[in-house]
Amino acid sequence: MARVIITGVSKTFNGSTALHPLDLAVEDGSFCCMLGSSGSGKSTLLRIIAGLSEPDTGTVRIGDRDVTGLPPERRRIGFVFQDYALFPHLSVGSNVTFGLRARHVSKREAVVKAERMLELVGLTGYAHRTPKQLSGGQQQRVALARALVTEPDVLLLDEPLSALDRKIRGEMQRELKRIHRETGLTTIMVTHDQEEAMNLGDRVLMLSNGAVQQFDEPERLYHAPANEFVAGFLGAVPLGHGVVGTGARGRFVEIAGNRFALGDSRLPDGTEADAVVMAERVTLTAATARARDEAEHEGVVVSLDFFGPFARAEARVGDVSVPAMMLSQHATALEGGARVWIRIATGGIHAFADGATR
Ligand SMILES: Nc1ncnc2c1ncn2[C@@H]1O[C@H](COP(=O)(O)OP(=O)(O)OP(=O)(O)O)[C@@H](O)[C@H]1O
Ligand SMILES: [Mg+2]
Repeated sequence: MARVIITGVSKTFNGSTALHPLDLAVEDGSFCCMLGSSGSGKSTLLRIIAGLSEPDTGTVRIGDRDVTGLPPERRRIGFVFQDYALFPHLSVGSNVTFGLRARHVSKREAVVKAERMLELVGLTGYAHRTPKQLSGGQQQRVALARALVTEPDVLLLDEPLSALDRKIRGEMQRELKRIHRETGLTTIMVTHDQEEAMNLGDRVLMLSNGAVQQFDEPERLYHAPANEFVAGFLGAVPLGHGVVGTGARGRFVEIAGNRFALGDSRLPDGTEADAVVMAERVTLTAATARARDEAEHEGVVVSLDFFGPFARAEARVGDVSVPAMMLSQHATALEGGARVWIRIATGGIHAFADGATR
């Protein structure tokens, strides 16, 4: 086991920048998820850590070794690619022992280790099957067993679950968590699914355009996004452009004449800022139900959409559009045109000046 230290790593392809010079320290035994949209540089960074691609500048350290110039097989890493291609003509057992045999581990020892790994990924008794006799999720587990069997210092995963349907994906996430708990292996996993990153990562590295936007614990990322990009990626919706101020009830951002309460903004009064709101932190109450609380805004529902267990409404406060996400059972009293009281939980709005400073 080992920590991974990246210093000043950058990469360009044919003159276009895939990674700007980047520093990153992944602690020993931690689970780091790399999150970002398509083309943000996630795979490029992971491939540089794996030794499948050379950085233009910078160094990669695994544990106390500088591995920058080393080929993948000398980095003591396990790697699972997006398509986790198994050798189709080899049995599950031989797929898992392949890396060991290449390292001249005796056949007997390799088989024992492979059985132990198959047990770890929940596939005891599957060694004699071929990959095509397995489900996608089972093939995924074989790929994991194959990556783990050489007892790597670091496990690198590039979107290993993206080919799986939602239910199996959830199961595999739980499996990955368990395996990580049981092995304590430093793990770096690429995903573009924010829920997956939040669920699995001790810390999440948010990448955009080849640059780190934030590297933080999931809760911090959600409650204190470093900039508008991070907030937007995690689902926050633009509320509008306004000015930050302080009133009798604390900080606010005033947009088109409406004052919306701000949490712990560091922006000084008078700063022009773009505000975003998290729809799940907005509660709508039909105006007919009770009198309006002082902290609530008055608005009108302009649209309502059902998504099974959840519903999403769009309400208007003057010229400002406010989204609200709720359990469908709480939407039954709402309809287009309904007058509503709008409550936005503390911290439900973030304000950013120049796209960045909170
Ligand atoms: N071998 C290559 N040759 C040329 N350009 C490349 C190469 N590999 C990556 N790129 C470019 O570098 C940028 C980052 O690519 P990368 O594969 O790291 O993105 P990603 O974040 O993994 O995206 P995705 O979510 O789609 O997998 C992209 O603009 C891509 O086109
Ligand atoms: Mg990729």
